[in-house]
Amino acid sequence: MKTLGEFIVEKQHEFPHATGELTALLSAIKLGAKIIHRDINKAGLVDILGTSGVSNVQGEVQMKLDLFANEKLKAALKARGQVAGIASEEEDEIVVFDGEGSENGKYVVLMDPLDGSSNIDVNVSVGTIFSIYRRITPVGTPVTEEDFLQPGSKQVAAGYVVYGSSTMLVYTTGCGVHAFTYDPSLGVFCLSHESVHFPESGQMYSINEGNYIKFPNGVKKYIKYCQEMDEATNRPYTSRYIGSLVSDFHRNLLKGGIYLYPSTATHPEGKLRLAYECNPMAFLAEQAGGKASDGKNRILDIVPQKLHQRSPFFVGTQSMVEDAERFLRDYPEEQ
Ligand code: AHG
Ligand code: MN
Ligand code: MN
Repeated sequence: MKTLGEFIVEKQHEFPHATGELTALLSAIKLGAKIIHRDINKAGLVDILGTSGVSNVQGEVQMKLDLFANEKLKAALKARGQVAGIASEEEDEIVVFDGEGSENGKYVVLMDPLDGSSNIDVNVSVGTIFSIYRRITPVGTPVTEEDFLQPGSKQVAAGYVVYGSSTMLVYTTGCGVHAFTYDPSLGVFCLSHESVHFPESGQMYSINEGNYIKFPNGVKKYIKYCQEMDEATNRPYTSRYIGSLVSDFHRNLLKGGIYLYPSTATHPEGKLRLAYECNPMAFLAEQAGGKASDGKNRILDIVPQKLHQRSPFFVGTQSMVEDAERFLRDYPEEQ
């Protein structure tokens, strides 16, 4: 049995100019994940379910657990000194860490502390997403928004935690994707899936079909394609939609499939946030032999203009994402 801590130390030499700081940073995320795991698991017993009564900068109602997860992760990251600041779905602006030498931290972290909030109250899998960059501004000065608006291709590490029937932490530092299952009795994450790869082909598509009428033409045609009978490609495909990006992505990674959150007539930029939802998932997808696109462009090449910028998102098995892109090209909007 190999623990996450042991595995990270073993792999440390793979990071360019490794000094152990990224290792320490990942272990802060590990600690945050354990705390969130503990509290999600007793969510029905303590007063932590439901909405907090306030909304975030995107006008979405924040759940109590959204805010709890945000505070716990922020505290874990601040305590270590490697991180000079964070950005979060639950924070309007970047949070610049000050005091205790934080301005000497080399890294910034972007996060979706709790993904799939609408599933919390009904005991369905939720997740945490994180994305790590080296700062651009000089060490020793406070970080600025510029440090957080780097294209996804500059990520040094990214990952997620899925709090499901078991809790798993899945991460990449650009040398493959590795997954660790949490053993609550020991309090450690144990290596359970080394070098995870999407299966060559997939048979699952995940999309909120309730929005069908508002989808672009190409997406409507692609959905119909998924539902057609064809022996050679094993269609019709199976439809699976949990409504937590982390959980839908995780299933597709292990079983083969595509997750789609396209632009809609009412939300032309889609729903998902580029910096802390799409980019980390795109990094993981590519490292696992998959693909991530906004329907046209590689997600990791997009230079974010705003912290909470949204993007249409197509991610999963490479051939399936390419099929979806082809439908978008072949069936443009009618004028
Ligand atoms: P969050 O809970 O962090 O706001 O993210 C929810 C996201 C994503 O996880 C999920 O796949 C999607 O929103 C679901 O949206 P719909 O309810 O519109 O399908
Ligand atoms: Mn989310
Ligand atoms: Mn969230």
